[in-house]
Amino acid sequence: MQQGIDQAARHILETNDKGGFTVPTSGLYPYQWNWDSVFVALGFAQFDPARACREIETLFEAQWDDGFVPHIIFRRDDPDYFPGPSFWQAGAKLPSSGITQPPVAATAIRMLRDTTADTAVRERIDALFKPVLEWHRWFMRYRVPESCGAVVITHPWESGRDNSPEWDAAAANIDVSQVGPYTRRDLAHADADMRPTKLDYDRYVALVEFGRDTGWDHGAIATGGPFRVADVGMTMILLRAMRDLIALAEATGHSDDIDELESYVVRLNRGVEYLWNAESDTFCSRDTITGAHSGFVTSASFLYAYADAGTPEQRAKMAAHWHRISSRVEYMVPSHDPDDVLFDHRRYWRGPVWIVVNYMIAIGFREQGLDDWADRVRSDSQRMIREHGFSEAFSPLDAGGTGGTNFSWTAAMWLAWCGQGS
Ligand code: GLC
Repeated sequence: MQQGIDQAARHILETNDKGGFTVPTSGLYPYQWNWDSVFVALGFAQFDPARACREIETLFEAQWDDGFVPHIIFRRDDPDYFPGPSFWQAGAKLPSSGITQPPVAATAIRMLRDTTADTAVRERIDALFKPVLEWHRWFMRYRVPESCGAVVITHPWESGRDNSPEWDAAAANIDVSQVGPYTRRDLAHADADMRPTKLDYDRYVALVEFGRDTGWDHGAIATGGPFRVADVGMTMILLRAMRDLIALAEATGHSDDIDELESYVVRLNRGVEYLWNAESDTFCSRDTITGAHSGFVTSASFLYAYADAGTPEQRAKMAAHWHRISSRVEYMVPSHDPDDVLFDHRRYWRGPVWIVVNYMIAIGFREQGLDDWADRVRSDSQRMIREHGFSEAFSPLDAGGTGGTNFSWTAAMWLAWCGQGS
């Protein structure tokens, strides 16, 4: 049984491998996605470290001169996906989107380096230090204003949590009146009740049009874009990644960069404070235009542990949420609070469990000595995959698979994490 699942997981990665880069799943997502590739690399590392390294190298092949790394790389046109390269009109060396995604690369590269004995692969990993540093600098320059210290996203897709209720209030201010007709392709591959709504999509398209009209001028988008929300997930992820990059700097002889990186850690820690909402007693996202907190407890809120963030009092409040939510659902960790009216157990980031987020949450809990919680996240993840295969996401109530199937990052997480030794 175990061997069968391991082989199936490996087969998914090999099938979705399009030659140095891996698509999240064929059909629904036929290109290279930023954070998907990084998680996928951790899966490949279990049986082919050189291929793992290649996955991250191909991601950075699309890096722009200003350090930015796009969220999608379009190596060829696929009419099955909207919005494709002709709509984005972005990219420097390769056609790409003009927005980014959660910066998990530094953390993964550090792990790959620590676990590979192959010196040739190690050298290639070390060569990634500078490109990752440039990407982190891009974030600090354009997306982490001194005024708040948190990572500001300019499109919900940047968060990786596309239709989370965290974006609803801020997205309501986006003008969709100029959006022309377009055809969604995602609905040909997944049920409509598992996908974002038409209104969500109109807003996504309006924001792409806004960025495109600036010629993908990141400074202009960061200061004048219609959607600028400090994202709790991105902030926790970048804070952790910054510390991992410091460890890499130490290990690879880049000690000259450490003071700069430490100043970024200080700024991001201020951002964590900015994201604390004393009314809901949680870390959550916050609209930088209106100052309003979302007030929601999402799976991203629990990344505080992964970021080693929060005061003892804040952590105690998060523990109360953990106990409340874990008694409400069968499978942890739902992407949205099950006690909130907007919770929808099958609709994408409004309820379903995402294995990559579980993976990061479990790392954080383990590091904080919260072993029981980490064990629960891991065993629930394992059960969902055993019962329902390598889905994109899973219902926290009955583990039913939602979205696409044969998903690369779910398979990768099985190999690298929750399927190990099961
Ligand atoms: C969806 C997810 C995003 C992911 C992408 C490809 O847009 O919300 O996190 O990167 O699909 O799998």
